[in-house]
Amino acid sequence: MDNNRDTAADPLPQTGPGTEMPETELPGTEASETNLPETEAAQLVPLAELHLHIEGTLQPELILELAERNGITLPYSGLEELRGLYEFTDLQSFLDLYYANMAVLQTERDFADMTRAYLARAAAAGVRHAEIMMDPQAHLSRGVSLETCVKGVASALATSQEDFGMSTLLIAAFLRDQSEESALEVLDGLLAMNAPIAAIGLDSAEVGYPPAKFERLFAKAREAGLRLTAHAGEEGPPSYIIEALDVLGVERIDHGIRCMEDPDLVERLVEDRIPLTVCPLSNVRLRAVDTLADHPLPAMLAAGLNVSVNSDDPAYFGGYVDDNFSQLKAVFDLSDFDRARLAANSIHSSFASEERKAELLDELNGG
Ligand code: ADE
Ligand code: ZN
Repeated sequence: MDNNRDTAADPLPQTGPGTEMPETELPGTEASETNLPETEAAQLVPLAELHLHIEGTLQPELILELAERNGITLPYSGLEELRGLYEFTDLQSFLDLYYANMAVLQTERDFADMTRAYLARAAAAGVRHAEIMMDPQAHLSRGVSLETCVKGVASALATSQEDFGMSTLLIAAFLRDQSEESALEVLDGLLAMNAPIAAIGLDSAEVGYPPAKFERLFAKAREAGLRLTAHAGEEGPPSYIIEALDVLGVERIDHGIRCMEDPDLVERLVEDRIPLTVCPLSNVRLRAVDTLADHPLPAMLAAGLNVSVNSDDPAYFGGYVDDNFSQLKAVFDLSDFDRARLAANSIHSSFASEERKAELLDELNGG
C-alpha cells in the first residue's frame, strides 16, 4: 500500500519574520466544476485543508445508511432525532456523540465510502490538497482492526488525485485521554504494517491532558521519519502550545487560538512562522468563542501569525472549508487578499512535497 506520495521527506519551508508572502491573485475557479452557486464558486480559492478528522465527516444520512448496511441498532429513531443531538456545550459534549456514531464504521468499505464522500465535497470547496487525520484507537477499542480502518481510508486516498484532483496524505491521531502506552502500541502496529501515514497528531479531550504525557510517542514517530502535529490551545491554555512545541517538537499546532492570551507566545509563533490550523465554525459550535464575530482570526492575521482556515469535523459543525470562508466573509468582510493569504499559508504549512506545494501555489496564482 503506497498512497504516501506527499510524505515525510520534505521539511517545512524555513520562512522567518519578514519573509514575503507570495504575490497572489485570486484564480477564477469555474462554477461548473463545483456544485455551488456561481457567485460562491467564483470566490473559491484553491487551498490545502490541514485539519480534518475523517470520522468527523460522517454525515447523519451516511450514519443511518451504514447502520442499516451493518445491521446496527442506533440509540435514536431516525434522522430528525439524530440531527437534534448536534447541539454542543463544549468539546467533550461533541466527542461523546462523535465516538458513539463511529459504531456504524465496521468494514473497509465503510471507511472508504466515508472518505470518498469527504473528498468529493472537499474538491467542490476548492480543496486541492488534504491532510486527513484518523483516530485508530477509537476503532480498535470497538473491535475494528487497524487493517480495516487504515486500509479502508487509504484505499480512497490512493486514487484521490485521479478521482477528485486532490493530493492527500494520512495522519494517525492519538487520543490524549488514553495512555501513552496504548498510543505507543498502536504506533508500533502502524509501523509494522507499513501503514501509509505521513504524520502523527494528538487529539480528543484536551484540558487535563497536557502534551508532555506523549513525549516518548512523538520521539518515536520523529525517529520513524514522520511529521508531527498536535491539537493545543483549543480549550487548553497557552502553556499546552508551548509544551507541544518544546517537549513534543511539533511542527504545526492544530487550533492554537488561545495563544492570543500570551503575547510572548504570539511573538514566538510569528517569529518561527509556526502554522496554526484554525477552525472557526468548530470553535463557535464547541463554544470556544461565543459567536463567529468574537473569533480571534482577524486579530491573528493582524498579528502576523501563520494561520489557515480548516473545517475540523464538518459534518458536526455546520460546514466544510468553503462554508467557513463564506461565513467569515459575512461577518468580517474578509478581503480577497486575506483569503489568498490564508490559502497560501495552508499550502506553505502543509506536509506536501516542495514540488506539490509549487504546483498548488502556481494554481493559486492563476497559473
Ligand atoms: N477530535 C475530533 N475533533 C476534535 C477536536 N475539535 N478537538 C479535539 N479532538 C477532536
Ligand atoms: Zn481537530
